[in-house]
Amino acid sequence: MSKLRSVVRGVGGYLPPKTVTNKELAEQVSTSDEWIVQRTGIRERHIAAKDEMTSTLAINAAKAALADAGMTAADIDLIVLATSTPDQTFPATAVTIQAELGITRGAAFDVQAVCSGFIFALATADRYLQSGDFKCALVIGAETFSRILDWTDRTTCVLFGDGAGAVVLEAVEQPGEKTDQGILTTRLRSDGRHRNKLYVDGGPSSTGTVGHLRMEGKEVFKYAVGAITDVIEDAFRVTGYTADDITWFVPHQANKRIIDGSAHKLGIAPEKIVITVDKHGNTSAASIPLALAQARTDGRLKKGDLVLLEAMGGGFTWASALVRW
Ligand code: UT7
Repeated sequence: MSKLRSVVRGVGGYLPPKTVTNKELAEQVSTSDEWIVQRTGIRERHIAAKDEMTSTLAINAAKAALADAGMTAADIDLIVLATSTPDQTFPATAVTIQAELGITRGAAFDVQAVCSGFIFALATADRYLQSGDFKCALVIGAETFSRILDWTDRTTCVLFGDGAGAVVLEAVEQPGEKTDQGILTTRLRSDGRHRNKLYVDGGPSSTGTVGHLRMEGKEVFKYAVGAITDVIEDAFRVTGYTADDITWFVPHQANKRIIDGSAHKLGIAPEKIVITVDKHGNTSAASIPLALAQARTDGRLKKGDLVLLEAMGGGFTWASALVRW
């Protein structure tokens, strides 16, 4: 029986021009290029200028995705933005993006699941497209984590960066088979018992301030590989695919050791992994669409490829998606 699927029409990324190397960070806090590279795989990250907001990065990524799709903003009737660093507490940053793109129809809203945000946003948009309520969606992950970092805390400030990535999804009738094009499954999980292991120590209804990111890195690390393999195995179970069928593994880019550990545990060959953490650091909700944009730009990602996405982060939240490009 035929089925409406969310097919990826285009992908785009945007990184603020300013880069900061590990060596430059070592001039500010007690760290070293060697420590950061060995523990995380990160070599440099992009940092937004004062006048670049999350919406600025998101709009640039959205325009790149629309250009890649050969579409215009007039085609879009749904915007779902994943971010933990909105321009303002409200309105949703998605409506700023909507207005700046000149879109006056449909709906736009933000989704907040920290580093898993992009897959949560993808799953949300996918449900609306499958229902027939909307036809064409921009799903964006955009962050300015540099604004919520404690730049005196070496255990966190070396890990994150700023950026944005976007995909254009269109609802397309498919045969309803395993070989369909589009989003084949999204698997979402949260467990709030772990919310104090990775959080921001401020907010409108608690301190009335924005706050700074705090993390028990080792605790997150310990949980990550198990959580990631759990949602990926779930995606394989519901779709009937296996690690051997995957063309590209595009994980959330937090730490190269977590990525390699998960791939090894799942039996995914190293040459199938798309890595950007070395150049971008951890850009939270932006990391997956930025990695997709990279793989598209360098010619790796092609129509028909089977792409596996995964993320894990604050909440804890964790998620996977399987997409036929
Ligand atoms: O995207 C959201 C999810 N987030 C993550 O996935 C992050 C998960 N966690 C991690 O990636 C790792 O735990 C970190 C990279 C954050 C830390 O690596 P680790 O191997 O777990 O190191 P650690 O926290 O156990 O610290 C080891 C040592 C400590 O010193 P002592 O206690 O052994 O003397 C730290 O104080 O490294 C020290 N250290 C540093 N040294 C130099 C911590 N940060 C730094 C630093 N430079 N920047």
